[in-house]
Amino acid sequence: MSLPRLAVVVGSTRPGRAALPLAEWIAQIARDHGGFEVELVDLADVDLPLFNEPRHPILKQYEYDYTKRWSAIVDAADAFVMVSPEYNHGITAVLKNAIDYLHSEWAYKAVGILSYGGVAAGTRSAAMLKQVLAPLKMVPTVASVSLPFFQQFIVDGVVKPNTEMTTAANAMLDELAHWTKALKTLRAADA
Ligand SMILES: Cc1cc2nc3c(=O)[nH]c(=O)nc-3n(C[C@H](O)[C@H](O)[C@H](O)COP(=O)(O)O)c2cc1C
Repeated sequence: MSLPRLAVVVGSTRPGRAALPLAEWIAQIARDHGGFEVELVDLADVDLPLFNEPRHPILKQYEYDYTKRWSAIVDAADAFVMVSPEYNHGITAVLKNAIDYLHSEWAYKAVGILSYGGVAAGTRSAAMLKQVLAPLKMVPTVASVSLPFFQQFIVDGVVKPNTEMTTAANAMLDELAHWTKALKTLRAADA
């Protein structure tokens, strides 16, 4: 039986972003975890303009090829890890924009959140992300990875985790795998 597909979404497009090494790190943990087929989805490559589809995404009648390509990527995924920096106590505009572009593609899929920042570890962005994902019928895992003063864990562009980070990442992936199994059955029943 094929493994569920996990998309690790890089939630910052800023040059020099921490999101990329953090996404590469969690993607490797997910590969080693063994429960998923893992793909890194970089919003810099997805390269969506600010939302400009004329119709509500609920209709899935997309005008533009970039939206159709983004729709196919999200449709193909069974689960997500969103790597979410905290900008002004919220999620990045680029992540919100990418989420808003689609609708049913997200539904009944589980999502783990890796947040990071200063003393608050990006937890306010994680809270906002949950609020945004709820109306799309996504299921955020309770287990999460929240990194305070994240710079200490990135050396020359590579993540050097401590034991707590690796333990938290695996706990999140275990819960994500659990939900993903159940939600796949639910989506199959709907189809
Ligand atoms: C516009 C902006 C707003 C920010 N706001 C916060 C914030 O509210 N809380 C926080 O912990 N860090 C904040 N930071 C610092 C970020 O945690 C830090 O720049 C981090 O590297 C952002 O992630 P990225 O490198 O993946 O883009 C902010 C950074 C920017 C550029």
